[in-house]
Amino acid sequence: IPVEPFDLVLFGATGDLARRKILPGLFHRFAVGQMPGSARIIGSARSEMSAEAFRADVARAIREVAPDTPEREETLAAFLERLDYVAIDVGGEAGWSDLTRCLRNDVVRAFYLSVAPSLFAGIARQLDAHGLATRDSRIVVEKPFGRNLDTARDLNAGLRASFAEHQIYRIDHYLGKETVQNLMALRFANSLFEPLWNATHIDHVQITVAESLGIEGREAYYDRAGAMRDMVQNHLMQLLCLTAMEPPAKFTPNSVRDEKVKVIEALDPVPPEDIARGQYAAKAGGDGYLDHVGNPDSRTESFVAMKVHVANWRWAGTPFYLRTGKRLRARESEIAVFFRDPPHTIFPGTGPLKGNVLAIRLQPDEGIRLQTTIKDPGPGGFRLAGVSLDMSFADALGEEAQAPDAYERLLMDVIRGDQTLFMRGDEVEAAWAWIDPIIARFDDSRDRPAPYDQGSSGPEEALMLMHRDHRRWRQIG
Ligand code: BG6
Repeated sequence: IPVEPFDLVLFGATGDLARRKILPGLFHRFAVGQMPGSARIIGSARSEMSAEAFRADVARAIREVAPDTPEREETLAAFLERLDYVAIDVGGEAGWSDLTRCLRNDVVRAFYLSVAPSLFAGIARQLDAHGLATRDSRIVVEKPFGRNLDTARDLNAGLRASFAEHQIYRIDHYLGKETVQNLMALRFANSLFEPLWNATHIDHVQITVAESLGIEGREAYYDRAGAMRDMVQNHLMQLLCLTAMEPPAKFTPNSVRDEKVKVIEALDPVPPEDIARGQYAAKAGGDGYLDHVGNPDSRTESFVAMKVHVANWRWAGTPFYLRTGKRLRARESEIAVFFRDPPHTIFPGTGPLKGNVLAIRLQPDEGIRLQTTIKDPGPGGFRLAGVSLDMSFADALGEEAQAPDAYERLLMDVIRGDQTLFMRGDEVEAAWAWIDPIIARFDDSRDRPAPYDQGSSGPEEALMLMHRDHRRWRQIG
């Protein structure tokens, strides 16, 4: 279904994210017919360049990522006609009136700030001052949304000086992933799981976002962020919230986000012994984290594992274990829910119960797998074996499972005016309020993160975190 006609102004239009994700995402929505023919995308950046040069650059970016189908060039030519370019130095006065002339009054208006967060408030102010921000226009911002509670508050205040909360779209691209949304469908559109979704029936939950890549090309940013700020404060927190939250009364932006905030506010502080930090080590020829950031003294973590308690009625006594890291054995992300064993076994001596584990796979091969225990087939006595009910979305749904990139979904939600999959200001602040003391402790301590081998599943300390509790991480890769 096509969305309404719109003018989308993309600040930072020549930057990496715009070229890799945003513009190809818009192109794909155009190709499948979701973007109306009258929609317009106005790229903006500091450099003076003609609209033609911008289009040529976008064409190059799209050819790099979009599959080379017989229709691609024709669709691309039509898409490029939707594009325009206005040079604006966002710190100054030049260019804003050109932008004013470009925009139409009778269509949805959205401003996408794919720029450094230090520019958010200034751009918002200029949009307001030049009368470009209408009551209904939307402003979209990217992470990092601050580096602690204070800076996040400042960013919120800066945006809210010119835009109301219902106009502000804070992106966490994990919320645009198909399986992440499916987690809500799984929990709240089925009667099978929700009655068991609590501490009485669930022993623990493991949330893993493992990456095989390192910090290629982003050394300066990453060394100031580390895995806690880069991944835990946002993506892992969102996965935790959607797994742990109470059923919202309605599938509306504020119902869903109210429930997520309650989860974050219920999180216990994390004691030092419940966190393991790691940093990927050098291989024989160097190529370790410290080589990459060019700082032999860096104490920034490229891996973190932690045990988290959601201190509320539903989850008391059921820990959530989170882990994420770079240069691990595989790119693999999942939420694994471990159900408790049956209270009594009537099959003594038939081998250990395999346990029920519900694994919701985000990537690769999105899908859901339920580990069950069955009788080992055959006449040779009664033995138990583990078997998985495995649903890969690609196999089950074929073509339709060709999940659009997370950005595509989120971009269309901005135009539709649906904030459900975007973070609310108080949600971001609550996440920082919980994370800040943890990071402050890292900063105060002289301890270095534990080195771990590249291609492994993280440092020994992370394994110990589980062993201590007589549990084991699921295997990565
Ligand atoms: C980004 C982080 O937000 O998410 C990156 O800044 C990380 O460090 C990326 O690699 C992971 O996203 P995805 O979609 O590839 O899992």
